[in-house]
Amino acid sequence: MADLDDIRDGKEYGIGVAQQADGFFLKGSAHLDWGMQDRLSRIFNPATGKTVMLAFDHGFIMGPTSGVERIDLSILPLIEHADCLMCTRGVLRSLVPPTSRKPVCLRSDAGTSIMTELNHNVVIDVQDAVRLNASAIAVMVAVGDPATEADTIANLYQAVDDGLAAGIPVMGVTAVGKDMARDARYFGLASRICAENGANIVKTYYTEGFEKVVACCPVPIVIAGGKKLPEKEALELAYMAIRSGAAGVDMGRNVFQSEKPAAMIKAVGAVVHQGMKPADALQLFHDTPHP
Ligand code: 5RP
Repeated sequence: MADLDDIRDGKEYGIGVAQQADGFFLKGSAHLDWGMQDRLSRIFNPATGKTVMLAFDHGFIMGPTSGVERIDLSILPLIEHADCLMCTRGVLRSLVPPTSRKPVCLRSDAGTSIMTELNHNVVIDVQDAVRLNASAIAVMVAVGDPATEADTIANLYQAVDDGLAAGIPVMGVTAVGKDMARDARYFGLASRICAENGANIVKTYYTEGFEKVVACCPVPIVIAGGKKLPEKEALELAYMAIRSGAAGVDMGRNVFQSEKPAAMIKAVGAVVHQGMKPADALQLFHDTPHP
């Protein structure tokens, strides 16, 4: 029974004190609904505005490529150092412990492999992303590829509609066509097309002139690491991207193909969140023992 005879009158009304009206820390995200902002705040650290996503979705097109043959052995020990996990629903359900308490950016398009022509993908049902409590869904967009551009933009468009209905942000992943120049003009175009079609985050590649790519993209950009580089170069890449305005990295091979993956993700984290200089981050990498 409710205790109705001791309802005390409130006294602390704060008359004259304006109600707090927080802005939102992420570029282009201030007008999103609460659930979207909550999910984005799990991916991006509100204290720094940045994220280190650990990408290990490569198997969905490449199969058991180097570093992801045994995700239980190679990737799971790295999870504690990541801000967000990017993977497929198959790996999430079969290998990632739900107790890891990490936000997930779910790879949500599928349909091709390296055995055939890439990017003829379709989008998975957003209800599965809801069941998996995904904090974002990721969809590839192949700007400039005559065979797949229209279909992949339609995939993004559908993912955005589905994501808005479910309160789940969408990350547009720019795929680079074989004939595309990997320059700021191209990445600026591809990133902007993702954002214009409603992506809440864009993943693209660092290139010279990256500050222009970031400046004309109205939502946060994270960079993929790309193929494995020497650790020094990968840390320089992350540093240059952050210095140019990137909101983080979505890095895979340069972490899990490193000889010391845990040391590498820690060093990348220091660059991303603390702005650590590449030389110091490399020292951190060398000083961190391999478990
Ligand atoms: C594969 C992807 C990867 O997640 C992305 O490319 C990041 O990984 P890497 O740093 O190894 O490039 O989208 O399609």
